[in-house]
Amino acid sequence: MDTVLLSDNEADLLKAAELIKEGEIVGIPTETVYGLGADASNEEAVRKVFEAKGRPADNPLIVHLADFSQAADYTRFIPEIAYKLAEKFCPGPLTMVLPKNDKIPMITSGGLDTVGIRVPSHKVMHRIIELSGRPIAAPSANTSGYPSPTSAAHVMRDMNGKISAVVDGGSSEFGVESTVISIESESAVRILRPGCITKEMLEQVCSEVIIDHAILHELEAGQKAASPGMKYKHYSPKADIIMVEGDLESFIAYVGRNNGEGVYSLIFNSDSEVFPYRNMTYGKDSSEQAHLLFQRLRELDDAGAKKVYVRAPETNGVGLAVYNRLIRAAGFEVIRI
Ligand code: TXA
Ligand code: MG
Repeated sequence: MDTVLLSDNEADLLKAAELIKEGEIVGIPTETVYGLGADASNEEAVRKVFEAKGRPADNPLIVHLADFSQAADYTRFIPEIAYKLAEKFCPGPLTMVLPKNDKIPMITSGGLDTVGIRVPSHKVMHRIIELSGRPIAAPSANTSGYPSPTSAAHVMRDMNGKISAVVDGGSSEFGVESTVISIESESAVRILRPGCITKEMLEQVCSEVIIDHAILHELEAGQKAASPGMKYKHYSPKADIIMVEGDLESFIAYVGRNNGEGVYSLIFNSDSEVFPYRNMTYGKDSSEQAHLLFQRLRELDDAGAKKVYVRAPETNGVGLAVYNRLIRAAGFEVIRI
């Protein structure tokens, strides 16, 4: 199959929407990362998404809508607190897990009776949903297990020949996937996957915000994941990623002792003046780290990195999302010095 690169003009967006209506898969830009979009109500189309990504069948897809008011068409029940959250954070990088109805086939929800609903803010994505008139299922457009794509070029790299088209909507604003939450009660939510809608932001609406244990810890054998995505190794480039927690001085000493061929470090911008070994920088604060992380992980592979020591980010605010992706990329290998 030839994968066509489309631009963000209206004629091309119409083409993308037509392809989705016909049951094809299209790489589409969102404000978080690029997605592999398909008609969420079309089982055959959704099957192709799982195939293109090589994704396990029990890992559910998020359904993207043009407006939160449409969530009622695909769910059995929407708690009041979900409307309050939607008022504040939709459109934007928030996914709410809600009880699904029959319009969402089981293949889309990975066999669960719930569905993750998200209203993206990216104008191109929004327009494609509108023009297609369909709920759009879209996982991140990477090969399963590899870092998520934050540009059309990344999607082309992973999906060329496997999908009908990719729409180029520029570089993704946030760079990490949406915050996924489940609703525990009319005053409490649980973060299943951290993102740029942070715990602190959710606390403006909910009196209790629980951080699911699986966000920072490896699941024990036999333990059930609240979010199936949490049980798989993720975001991993070919290079071996090792997270190192400690101050800059100890980090430099540690890398010095372990330096060798193919060894890189992923450091903060502020470290770069004094850091003496081969490195890439990934930003000056958590938001910039989120924006750059996946791109850097791909660039490290391109540079031929074999082993990458990463300075651990903070775990508050958006930092929790960055830390969560890194700890998975590292297969939970963290060194505390
Ligand atoms: O920002 C995003 O969310 C991107 C863009 C394309 O919108 N999409 C994305 O999709 O990251 P994906 O499939 O790569 O990740 C979806 C995550 C998985 O960890 C999955 O297990 C979880 O959300 N999830 C989806 N539906 C769920 C459900 N019904 N219950 C629990 N977890 C769910
Ligand atoms: Mg993903």
